[in-house]
Amino acid sequence: MPNDSAMVESVLKAIENERKGAVTRLIDWLRIPSISTDPKHAPDCEKAARWAGDRLSECGFKVEILPTGTREEPGRPVVLAEIDAKPGYKGPHVLFYGHYDVQPADPLNLWESPPFDPVIKPATSDGVGERVVARGAVDDKGQVMTFLESCRAWHKTAGHATNGARFTVLLEGEEESGSENLEAFVQGHKARLEKADVCLISDTGMVSREIPAITYGVRGLAYTEVTLHASNQDLHSGMWGGRCPNPISELCKVLAGLWDADRRVTIPGFYDDVRALAPEERTAWARIPFDQIDALKKIGLPKEADVGEKGFTALEREWGRPTAEINGIWGGYTGPGAKTVIPSHASAKVSFRLVADLKPTDITQKFFAWLKGRTPPGCRWELTDMHGGFGVTVPVDSPELKAAGRAVARAFGNEPALIKSGGSIPVAGMLKSQLGIDTIFMGFGLDDDRVHSPNEKFELECLRKGTRAHALLVAEITGA
Ligand code: BES
Ligand code: MN
Ligand code: MN
Repeated sequence: MPNDSAMVESVLKAIENERKGAVTRLIDWLRIPSISTDPKHAPDCEKAARWAGDRLSECGFKVEILPTGTREEPGRPVVLAEIDAKPGYKGPHVLFYGHYDVQPADPLNLWESPPFDPVIKPATSDGVGERVVARGAVDDKGQVMTFLESCRAWHKTAGHATNGARFTVLLEGEEESGSENLEAFVQGHKARLEKADVCLISDTGMVSREIPAITYGVRGLAYTEVTLHASNQDLHSGMWGGRCPNPISELCKVLAGLWDADRRVTIPGFYDDVRALAPEERTAWARIPFDQIDALKKIGLPKEADVGEKGFTALEREWGRPTAEINGIWGGYTGPGAKTVIPSHASAKVSFRLVADLKPTDITQKFFAWLKGRTPPGCRWELTDMHGGFGVTVPVDSPELKAAGRAVARAFGNEPALIKSGGSIPVAGMLKSQLGIDTIFMGFGLDDDRVHSPNEKFELECLRKGTRAHALLVAEITGA
C-alpha cells in the first residue's frame, strides 16, 4: 500500500465536511426506540438493525441481517457485514463490534426532552460541549456512528470503506439485555468470525475531554433474581405482624449481610480466584489524572461518600476488584397512601461485577449456596440465574493496540491514557474464550454522558474526534 498522507488528509477533510450530515444521520438512528429488553420494541430493533445495515451497504459492505434465538423464542437480529481486502493487504483482519440496542428510557419524567426525539443542545458555561441528547446517544449508537462515518469518508475519498483492509462488522441487538443469544450466534458463525485477528469496540469512555483513552479491560458480570416466599397469601399486619415471618424484612436482613464492616463481600470463597492487582498496575493507575472527590461532587455526593472495599482506591475498586450490588428490591405495597400488609413474598435483583479469574456461574452458585444457608425460618427461596459474562484484560503491547493508541493520539492531539472500565461488554469474553480473539476498546464517552440514565448525551466533539480516530486507525493498519 502506498504511503499516502495526502489521501489521509483528504479523508480527514471529508469528515469535517460531513460534520452536519453525520449528526443528522445519528439523529435518524436515535429516533428508533430499539429497546432490547422489552418485547414490544422488537420491530424497532429490526428497524434499527436495517438502518445500520443500509449505512454499511452504502459504503460497499456486503450486509446480512441475521436472526438469533429459536423459532419459539426469537432474539434480536445481528447485522453481519464484510468488506474484502484489496489484493496484497497484509494487515490484521478486524472485527468491529457495536450494539444498536439501547436501555429502557425510564424514568421518563426526568427527561428534559423526549428520549427518542433527539435534540442538539448548545455548549454550557461549565464546560459541557454541544451535544445530542437522546437514549442511546453515547451507548452505543453515537459511538458506532464514529466507525460508520469513518467508513463513509474513506469510501468517498479512496473508494474503499477501510482503505483496502479486511473488516467484518458485527452489530448486536441484545447487549443491554445480557447478550443471551450471542453465544449461540458466535458458535454458529465461528468459521467466519474466527478469521478475524482482533476485535475493535467503541463502547467505553475517556478520562476527560482533553485526555482520550484506550481501555484494556472490562469487568465481568453475574446477574441474579431472588425471591423469598413466606405465607401462601398476603396478611393483615396487625393480626400477623410479630407472629410469622415478613419476607421483606427477612430478605433485607439476609442481603444486608452481603458485606462486612470493611465492605468486603462475605460469601465464602468469593475472592478465591481474584487475581491480585500488580504493583506496577496500581502505580500506573495512581498516575491517571482522576479526581474521585470531584467525580462524586458531579453526581451530587460529598467526599464522605468515597466508600467501598477497604484498602483500595476508587479506580482500583472500579477496575480491579469484584463487587456485589442490589439493583432492585420490591415487595408488598408500594402504591400511594398506606396499606398495612405483610406480603407473601419479596424479591431483589442482585448482581456481581467480576474481575479475572472469576467465573460468572461459579459466583452465582456460591451466592445461591450462601442464601440457602441463611434461609429465614419457615421461608423458601426461588433463585434465578439471569445472565453472566466473563471480564477480559488484553495485552497492552500488541501491535493492534499500539496502532489504536497512535490513531487516537493523532485524532485528539493528545496521548491516550491506558485505562480499564468497571462496566461489562459480554461479547469480549465470548470472543476470547471461544475464538481466542482479543479486543481493543477504543471508546469516546465522557463521565458525564449519563449512560443508562435520563438525558443521556453524546458530545459532537466526541463524535468528530472519534470518527477521526477510526479513520486514522484505518490509515495505521493500511500503511497510508
Ligand atoms: N457500554 C456499556 C458498558 C460500559 C459502561 C463500558 C460504562 C464503559 C463504561 C454496555 O452497554 C453496558 O451497559 N453493559 C452492561 C452489560 C450487561 C447488561 C450484561 C453493563 O455493564 O451493565
Ligand atoms: Mn454499550
Ligand atoms: Mn449499556
